Amino acid sequence: MHLHVRDGEMMRLVTPLSAAYFAGAVVMPNLVPPVADVEAMKKYEGRVREAMGKQNFLPLMTLFFREYGEEELRRAKETPGFFGIKLYPAGVTTNSDAGVSDVLAAESTLRVMEELGIPLLVHGETHGFVLDREEEFLPAYRALAEKYPRLRVCMEHISTSASLKLLEEYENLCATITLHHLLLTLDDVVGGKLNPHLFCKPIAKREADREALLAAALGGSEKVMFGSDSAPHPQEAKECCGCAAGIFSAPVALPRLAQLFAQHGALEKLQAFVSDNARRIYGLKVPGKVVVLRDEVMAVPECYRGYGQKVVPMDAGENLGWSVVGREE
Ligand code: DOR
Ligand code: ZN
Repeated sequence: MHLHVRDGEMMRLVTPLSAAYFAGAVVMPNLVPPVADVEAMKKYEGRVREAMGKQNFLPLMTLFFREYGEEELRRAKETPGFFGIKLYPAGVTTNSDAGVSDVLAAESTLRVMEELGIPLLVHGETHGFVLDREEEFLPAYRALAEKYPRLRVCMEHISTSASLKLLEEYENLCATITLHHLLLTLDDVVGGKLNPHLFCKPIAKREADREALLAAALGGSEKVMFGSDSAPHPQEAKECCGCAAGIFSAPVALPRLAQLFAQHGALEKLQAFVSDNARRIYGLKVPGKVVVLRDEVMAVPECYRGYGQKVVPMDAGENLGWSVVGREE
C-alpha cells in the first residue's frame, strides 16, 4: 500500500519486481517534478504500466498534495486508476520540496476530498529532532482526524508505538507499516558500522517501538496494512556522503514477511496484513492473485542490475528462510 517505483530506467528495473508478486500497489508521486495534476498522473500510470509488462498488477496512482480546486478533484476522482493524494510536509524526505508548510492550511482541498471520499496519505514528520519527528507530528494527525471526520487519513509508514495509540482513537485513521520498521531499530542503522542501505525516513526507532509495531501486525490489527515503502536509489546515491533515504525492499518483502510471521507462529495473520485489511479499509477491488510461499531458501542477490541501473536490496547477499515458489493469476 506504499511503493516507490520512480521513473525512467530505474522504473523499468524495479517495477516488474513488485508486479510479479503483488496484485497491486499504491504508487507514490514524489518524482521530480512531483505528479501534481491529473494529466501528469495519467501519463505516469502509462509509463508504469509499460514498465510492469504483462503482469496482473494494478498500479493505484496518487497525486502530490497541493491546493486543488473542486473541479480538479472531481476529475481526479473520476479518473480510472486514481487512488488518493499524498501529503508531504515540505523538505522532510526525498523529493518533498514542493510539500506543504502547514498541513491544515488547505482547508477547501481537504473539505472536498472528504466530500468525494478521496483518501489522504500522509508522511507524518516534523523538522524536529530526528527521533521525535513522528511523535511531534501526531497533533497534526489528531487535528485532521477531528476536523474532517469522514476523511480517510492514512498515517504512512508509522515507526512508533505512540502512532499506534493515536490510531486507535479515531475511526478515520488507518496506517501502513513497512517491513523494515518491523525488523529494525536505530542500532541496525547506526549502532555498529553505519549501514546506508537501512537509512530511511522515518528512521527506525527504539526496540519498544519495533515490538509494538510487530505486535499490531502479528495480532491482525484491523487498522494496519502492509506498505513496503520500498524506495530504490542507485547504489552510488546510497554508498556516499549524503546518502539518500530509502530502503529497497520490494524483492524480499513477501518472503521476509512470511519468515517473520512464521517465526512468531502467526502465518495465518499474514493475509490480513498484506491484503485483506487494505481491501476492507479502502473498499478496494483489486483483481486476485495467489502467491505461494514456502519455507525454502531464497538467496537474495547482492544487487539488481539492468537498464544501466544498479540497486542494492534489503538483505543483499543473505539467505532468507522463505521464498515465493509459485503464482496463480
Ligand atoms: O526513506 C524514504 N524514502 N522515505 C520517504 O518518505 C521517501 C522515500 C524515497 O522516496 O526515497
Ligand atoms: Zn514512501
